[in-house]
Amino acid sequence: MEATEKKEVVFSAIQPSGTITLGNYLGAVRNWVKMQDEYNCIYALADLHTITVRQEPAKMRKNIIDAYASIMACGVDVEKSIFFIQSHVHTHAELAWVLNCYTQFGELSRMTQFKDKSAKHADNINAGLFTYPVLMAGDILLYQADKVPVGADQKQHIELARDIAARFNGLYGDVFKVPEGFIPKNGARVMSLQNPLNKMSKSDENVNGCVHLLDDPDTIMRKFKRAVTDSEACVRYADGKDGVNNLMTIYSSVTGLSFEQIERDFEGKGYGDFKAAVGEAVVEELRPIRERYEKLVKDKAYLESCYRAADEIALKISSRTLGKAMKKVGFVR
Ligand code: TRP
Repeated sequence: MEATEKKEVVFSAIQPSGTITLGNYLGAVRNWVKMQDEYNCIYALADLHTITVRQEPAKMRKNIIDAYASIMACGVDVEKSIFFIQSHVHTHAELAWVLNCYTQFGELSRMTQFKDKSAKHADNINAGLFTYPVLMAGDILLYQADKVPVGADQKQHIELARDIAARFNGLYGDVFKVPEGFIPKNGARVMSLQNPLNKMSKSDENVNGCVHLLDDPDTIMRKFKRAVTDSEACVRYADGKDGVNNLMTIYSSVTGLSFEQIERDFEGKGYGDFKAAVGEAVVEELRPIRERYEKLVKDKAYLESCYRAADEIALKISSRTLGKAMKKVGFVR
């Protein structure tokens, strides 16, 4: 690779709607950290997206700061990457409005996440929930991102962002880079420890299903010891062994061991040993993160200086794209 070659731009965001889970970490944030040297990385806390579901104001404020500190504790480095807070950068809401007028009702009606969420929050199917993917498209397009690492559940939204970008470019010339979504190969899809057919989620009604980034070691061990397995008592990856498959996925993701190696290491051993090993590996992976978090979260002034600086750069970059798009549409600039 040429030293002069420009690094590609990576954009991704995560909602600060509660604690960061082991699933968020192994599925997304850990990859954000890894990509920092190879790409120009721009990351955001998507707090505007969060209010599509009703939030308690004081809790939301705390969640945003906690998520910012947690993600820094995971290794997102503000010296290398831009890590900002979406609501602090007004171009996001503005471009979302413009793009709303270039997105069809029918397209948004086909979004499976909208269908799922409106079934789940039947008493609050607000317009924001419906146009959520447009705000997300704007997030990405503002930074002319080349690559957008996301979980499989966001793939349809990336496709929509590409369609919107291509449509806009078709009308007005090259305004937006058409981004490429990708699901990182090493980004594990972590399932609930209690119901391994569902994604690990902070809204799991069974608290033992979800490991939080900041859980203490005893809590982590307890959750893994109670993890659902099966009656075969054999550590192997196979259809129908969803609980064990999930534990193997987590273990492999944390230790770097292959499934074959794990099967060999635990040959003849019971699930008790295996669950303890997975728990210990996770405890050790999360220990330094929790320690860094404890320090960071106490220093609110430092955190604020980090996001203020990032917000400012994000505003500068995104304003160029917004200005160009609005000019093309016909606004007087
Ligand atoms: N909707 C994403 C999620 O819930 C978060 C998000 C918002 C995002 N804007 C984005 C992800 C832009 C990638 C790019 O996971």
